[in-house]
Amino acid sequence: MDKHTVLVTGGAGFIGSHACIELLQAGYQVVVVDNLSNSKVESLSRVQQITGKTLQFYEADIRDKSALTEIFAEESINTVIHFAGLKAVGESCQQPLNYYHNNVYGTLVLLDVMVAANVKQLVFSSSATVYEPSTTNAQYSEDLPLGAINPYGRSKVMIEDILRDLSAVDKLGSTNTPWKIALLRYFNPIGAHESGLIGEDPNGIPNNLMPYVTQVAIGKLKQLSVFGNDYPTPDGTGIRDYIHVVDLVKGHIKAIETIESAAFNNGGCHAYNLGTGKGYSVLDIVNAFEKMTGKTLPYQFSPRRAGDLAECFANPERAAKELNWTAEKNLDDMVADTWKWQVQNPQGYAS
Ligand code: NAD
Ligand code: WQD
Repeated sequence: MDKHTVLVTGGAGFIGSHACIELLQAGYQVVVVDNLSNSKVESLSRVQQITGKTLQFYEADIRDKSALTEIFAEESINTVIHFAGLKAVGESCQQPLNYYHNNVYGTLVLLDVMVAANVKQLVFSSSATVYEPSTTNAQYSEDLPLGAINPYGRSKVMIEDILRDLSAVDKLGSTNTPWKIALLRYFNPIGAHESGLIGEDPNGIPNNLMPYVTQVAIGKLKQLSVFGNDYPTPDGTGIRDYIHVVDLVKGHIKAIETIESAAFNNGGCHAYNLGTGKGYSVLDIVNAFEKMTGKTLPYQFSPRRAGDLAECFANPERAAKELNWTAEKNLDDMVADTWKWQVQNPQGYAS
């Protein structure tokens, strides 16, 4: 039997397309809205190929209020998973207004339309980047202070603040339907669906480590620059909490189940880290990649990248306890699935 309908904003993108698979396989009806500014509609064809199920796709911008209003009128939406937004840290420093327009204003329009349609269940893509960077503590718990250091990160903090404010209205004795909101703070999502049919397809030269590594390995890029080898870590390179995208999207299904459970009967807005709790260095990633592919990965040490921390990983205990979710896949799975996607699709969806 079909469960209810989930609107997935940004559903054609890297994480959104994996979420669509998981939702369809769990029996939800899926409606996607995406303006395709950083994705291809082919990803959604592949989602349908993998699952043998269909979804409804609307090519629209979340800032387009009338388009969103029509979608909510057409579809019986119960819950929204909100992935749509821009995500490149460097670009956000060059184009802050574009980031605030897409991420913050886009979310405001979405929330207005949700209020008008009386849809008040929301799972939001937040990020570990919302935390105030710490040089003394590398493991981030949800209660640590927020304080992003770039426009992209600040757009996520602003959206979290807006959502906390919205949910607080319920506590003032409002008789309206309460908001039920999960803020999911992702650490470093990598990997791809095990079929190798969908994965991360960045435009131009990748900013993030994993897509850069795979493009070096297939010969599209010459060599990896390892940003800094003088950090106070065992091998001197930066440590991050890499999480398999399929584990990550499973956390979204658990979040929907949780906000619909008795625990959220009176509404609420709660943040959850989605990470493994384990950190790997840049050289750990390079080594795992070389082991998996049998290829030598050319790299050179370069200066540190501005704004980077030595080490950052999740305390994932709250998600384990309250969402009943823990990551299951290991680094070898992440590398193997990323590599399968890259080899099967050397030019991404354009292949
Ligand atoms: P992505 O760029 O692959 O997906 C985002 C999707 O949103 C794209 O398909 C894009 O076309 C769409 N989009 C952007 N602006 C839109 C708008 N105004 N209207 C409609 N659609 C729009 O990125 P992703 O890696 O899948 O990230 C999804 C979400 O997760 C983002 O909100 C991102 O900030 C967040 N996040 C990502 C990471 C990561 O490392 N990938 C980490 C933490 C948080
Ligand atoms: C990982 C490690 C780099 C590229 C970013 C965003 C964050 C979140 C996830 C959205 C670091 C090193 C990287 C390269 C390298 N996104 N590196 N050479 O910086 O942890 O997080 O993506 O919310 O907001 O900031 O991820 O993959 O860029 O870097 O040595 O060419 O790899 O220095 O130690 P990061 P990343």
